[in-house]
Amino acid sequence: MIMIEEIERVLIDEKTISDTVGVLAERINNDYKNKSVVLTAILKGGAVFASDLMRRLQIDVTLEFMQVSSYGSGCVSQGDIKIIKDTETDLRGRDVIIAEDIIDSGNTLKEIVALMEKRGARVEVCTLLSKPARRLSDVRVKYTGIEIPDEFVVGYGMDYDERFRTLPYIGVLKREIYSRN
Ligand code: IMP
Ligand code: MG
Repeated sequence: MIMIEEIERVLIDEKTISDTVGVLAERINNDYKNKSVVLTAILKGGAVFASDLMRRLQIDVTLEFMQVSSYGSGCVSQGDIKIIKDTETDLRGRDVIIAEDIIDSGNTLKEIVALMEKRGARVEVCTLLSKPARRLSDVRVKYTGIEIPDEFVVGYGMDYDERFRTLPYIGVLKREIYSRN
């Protein structure tokens, strides 16, 4: 296993991630049997999860990507989002599943869901991780992989300052790394 000095401990190992993705995929396969869905990965963090999830789906999938940034610069996103990369498929009347790495305040996702619903889509959210203790927005999340405590995690798509996204496991970053600034 790739161990990195800045990681305090492994929170979720590769096997647990893989099993969790399998459970989520099975639920989606059941719920969307004979339907076609637009799977929308939220970049950059959701890319790794989405790429594992999509290969376990046995339904008709159109793949989309969306990248947004929140205007606020603090730890908690502010609500207003800026679209950096938008979806291309016409979403009117479509079933959309949003694949997200982690839901923290829920503010970002709430905005994305509202935007897609305005475009006429039926939207559900599938997140690998959730930090319920930090939730501020009451976004409806149909599929949640693992609920985690309020700790800053990296790996499997998730970053700190654009680093650590490529780790195959999910680790807790040493507090001194992110409380420096
Ligand atoms: P929210 O709008 O506060 O829910 O922010 C969600 C986004 O913040 C996620 O998609 C992640 O990109 C990022 N995020 C939240 N918590 C963490 C974490 O512990 N590690 C890495 N990124 C995180
Ligand atoms: Mg993200």
